[in-house]
Amino acid sequence: MLDLGNRMARFLQPGLTIFLQGNLGAGKTTLARGILHGLGYQHVVKSPTYNLVEIYKISRLYLYHFDFYRFNDPLEWEEAGFREYFNPASICIVEWPEKAEDLLPIADLQITIKIHDKGRSIEIRASTEPGIQCLQQWNTQEMS
Ligand SMILES: Nc1ncnc2c1ncn2[C@@H]1O[C@H](COP(=O)(O)OP(=O)(O)OP(=O)(O)O)[C@@H](O)[C@H]1O
Ligand SMILES: [Mg+2]
Repeated sequence: MLDLGNRMARFLQPGLTIFLQGNLGAGKTTLARGILHGLGYQHVVKSPTYNLVEIYKISRLYLYHFDFYRFNDPLEWEEAGFREYFNPASICIVEWPEKAEDLLPIADLQITIKIHDKGRSIEIRASTEPGIQCLQQWNTQEMS
């Protein structure tokens, strides 16, 4: 997860929204940690489970790491005032996006982690033009 996040970081652009899905303990926070390290963040990356969001500034980039597990009602997302964080200058990574249902902006990349007997499997789906571009660059780079 750390290695995947590290490699993925190179292809992320400001403005991207990334959903991380998978059961409790699947490795979502660990993947986000890898992405942050890959972007050059060298300090401790905490799980946002209790604060709902952890905010990072890496040179001029803002990265918001959310965890909506504790939401009981999708409307809590609206009330928390998080909508303004989803803007062209920021990367937003969201654990448990399903807890905010369809109130959230559309994800550019949707990453689903599954736990198997031996290890994890990861599915990455791009549903917007910026998301597709990111995956294409990544594919090209990994194959070369
Ligand atoms: N690929 C992996 N193989 C083995 N252990 C892993 C892997 N990825 C993460 N872990 C470990 O699993 C535990 C849970 O990981 P993590 O906190 O990243 O999960 P999470 O999906 O964010 O869970 P939550 O839904 O509770 O936020 C951690 O101890 C982490 O080190
Ligand atoms: Mg987590």
